[in-house]
Amino acid sequence: NFLFRVYFPHRVRTFRKPHPDALIIGVRKGGTRALLEALNLHEAVRIVRKETHFFDANYTLGTGWYAEQMPQVDAEEQIIIEKTPGYFTSKNAPKRVHQLNPKMKIILIVRHPVFRTISDFTQVYYNKLEQNKTLPILSIESFKIDEKSGKEVINLDYKPVSNSLYDVHFENWLKYFDLSQMHIVNGDVFRANPLNELRRLETFLQLPRQIQASQLHFDRKKGFFCFENLKKSSKIHCLGQSKGRKHREVSEKTQKKLADFFRFHNFQFFRLVNRTFSWDL
Ligand code: A3P
Repeated sequence: NFLFRVYFPHRVRTFRKPHPDALIIGVRKGGTRALLEALNLHEAVRIVRKETHFFDANYTLGTGWYAEQMPQVDAEEQIIIEKTPGYFTSKNAPKRVHQLNPKMKIILIVRHPVFRTISDFTQVYYNKLEQNKTLPILSIESFKIDEKSGKEVINLDYKPVSNSLYDVHFENWLKYFDLSQMHIVNGDVFRANPLNELRRLETFLQLPRQIQASQLHFDRKKGFFCFENLKKSSKIHCLGQSKGRKHREVSEKTQKKLADFFRFHNFQFFRLVNRTFSWDL
C-alpha cells in the first residue's frame, strides 16, 4: 500500500474527513509539537500542521472552515490528529469537541508543573520580545506576588501559573469525556525516551505497532530527539529553536514556592487520572 502510493501517486484517490479523529489538547509547553511530529512517523497518521484553535478562539468560523483545515487522506483507516494546546485550558472546548464528535480521542501531554510554568514564562517573555513590545519589567519572581493583598501568594491571574493547575482543567474535560477516551502522556518521560510513550499511543489510537526506534535520533547538541519520517524523505527533522530554549532564571526559593502550591493540585490530578507522576522538586 505504501509503495503503491509512492510509485503511483496519481492513482491514489484522496478525500477529506470533516474533522480529526484525535486531538492533542495540551498542555502548552508540555511537548505537544514533538508529540505530534513523533506520531506523524506512523504511516496511518495524517496531521494538521498548524494549530487551528477551532474549539477555543476560532469556533465562530464554523465546522465547514474546520473541515477545510484537514489534510487529505487516501484511506478510511488513516487517522487525522490536530493539536492546539489552548484547548486544555479552554472552558468551552470540551463541550464543543463533544458536540462535534463524542468519540474523539483525547490526548494530553503533561509535564512537571514547575518547569512547565517556567517554560511558559520564558515563552511569554520571548513572544513579547519578538513582537517588539516594551516588556513589562516584571521581575522573574512577580508571578507569585498578589499585588492587591501585598502578600506573597501565588497569582492565579497569571496564565503561566494557572495553566499548570492540571486538575482544574482536566475536571472540565471529564464532564464530557470518559477517562478511557483520554490518554495521558508523561512529557518528561517522552522527552527522554519517546518510544515507550509512542507504543502506548499506538495502542490507544488502535493503530498497528509501527514506529521504530531507528526513526528516533537523539541529537546530542540539541539535547532532544529528532524524527525520521519515511513518508516524506529520509531527512531527519529536529524541532525549531523555540523548543528547548534556555529557560529564564528562577530562584530556587520561587521554584519551591510554586512546587508547594502545586502539590495539592497535583494530588487532585493524580486522583482524577488514577495515576501518579514524580513531580517533587
Ligand atoms: P522547553 O522549551 O521548556 O524545553 P510545546 O511544543 O508544547 O510548546 O512544548 C515545548 C517543549 O517540548 C520544550 O520545552 C521541550 O522540552 C519539549 N520537547 C519534548 N521533546 C522534544 C523534542 N524532541 N524536541 C524539542 N523539544 C521537545
